[in-house]
Amino acid sequence: MKYEFSDDLKQAQTLDQEDVLSDIRNHFYIQPNQIYMDGNSLGLASKDAEESLNKMMNVWKTEGINMWDEYFHYGQKLGDECAKLINAEKNEVLITGSTTSNVHQCVTTLYHPTKDRYKILVDDLNFPTDRYAVDSDVRLKGYTPEEAVKVVKSPDGKYIDEDAVIEAMTPDVALILLPTVLYRSAQILDMEKITKAAHERGIFIGWDLCHAIGAIKMDFQKVQPDFAIWCTYKYLSGGPGSIAGLYLNKKHFDKTPGLAGWWGNRDDTQFQLKHQFQHQQDVSGWQIGTPTMLSMAPLEGTLKLINSIGMDKIRTKSLKITAYLMYLIDTKLSKYGCTVGNPREDDKRGGHVCLEHPNGYQISLALKDRGVIPDFREPDVIRLAPIALYTSYQEVYKMVEILEDIMSSKSYEKYSDKRGLVV
Ligand SMILES: Cc1ncc(COP(=O)(O)O)c(C=O)c1O
Repeated sequence: MKYEFSDDLKQAQTLDQEDVLSDIRNHFYIQPNQIYMDGNSLGLASKDAEESLNKMMNVWKTEGINMWDEYFHYGQKLGDECAKLINAEKNEVLITGSTTSNVHQCVTTLYHPTKDRYKILVDDLNFPTDRYAVDSDVRLKGYTPEEAVKVVKSPDGKYIDEDAVIEAMTPDVALILLPTVLYRSAQILDMEKITKAAHERGIFIGWDLCHAIGAIKMDFQKVQPDFAIWCTYKYLSGGPGSIAGLYLNKKHFDKTPGLAGWWGNRDDTQFQLKHQFQHQQDVSGWQIGTPTMLSMAPLEGTLKLINSIGMDKIRTKSLKITAYLMYLIDTKLSKYGCTVGNPREDDKRGGHVCLEHPNGYQISLALKDRGVIPDFREPDVIRLAPIALYTSYQEVYKMVEILEDIMSSKSYEKYSDKRGLVV
């Protein structure tokens, strides 16, 4: 979409006045004198999340073991709320485990290699945990990653070529795992086109939605992938290490879970505690052990808030505020060698903007010292995420002003480029 932006503070103020989500910011704990641009790594705490966490504490305090009467299906209940964000059917989505353990769960469920079809196709830009999981899952079947993991290489280290992915779908490929939004460059892959191509070739396909869920709109009724997994601590603000999401297409409900546990057993026989596992014939059959209720509870609050707004409004603001940031980088920072490293098209970019500069790491440290929280990804990317729910246009404007000062004074040069523990 085309916007008419200008580089003065007055316009930032007007954009905030016109922002239909501006009041939502009051739900979040915004720290004074801080501009938080890292909601794509760890979303800010909200009062809604705090309330649902307190409620869960209270239920534990007052009900003890009786709490299970009400909360036995909590993973499914939150899954139903999450299903709305991707337009999936209710019983196909579950809140459980971590992104990584859910990769293992889905891959071990669907990956049954044969002599002719034994490869898993991945890309070389996805977040490494997915690759570690896939490598170990092929090892469990007696292969080495060198023989059974096929990697589509990015032509430029930034983007994935969708046609190259489709070309790599050879008859020896059994399963594909790809990110929907790339964690560094924010590129969106066309899930519908790639999933269709995989299915035409008899290949199962799963998507990592970590940087997509709560940031972009998705329609799983249309895409019909085999599985998807995601974390809930980024755009969904579920809390540090909050419990992850798992989607399993209903056509796989009859398959045996790769990683079985008693919480995946049929409800009506679970407490008979028999040694024959009978899995629940919906996504809840893919639960493993007792759900970690206190880590799940904050998500209830934020999902309620997000669903009360809807992804249409969230995506509309995200596209506008990221376009505004790109405009300010172009007009105010390009003279200092700063470039925009994410795709610019609306249907090709996720929820964050990549500011690239050879001294990116030092600049990110200088920003932190000035009260701006970005994050940095190797080799030269400062990721800046103005979050639709709580970032204002004036904050974006102010941050670019601070960046302008850091760049023109070269104050970043006083910082070491030796990397810290969490960059
Ligand atoms: C694409 C992607 N997958 C997975 C993860 C992390 O996995 P987990 O939630 O199991 O720590 C991240 C973390 O940033 C990620 O960006």
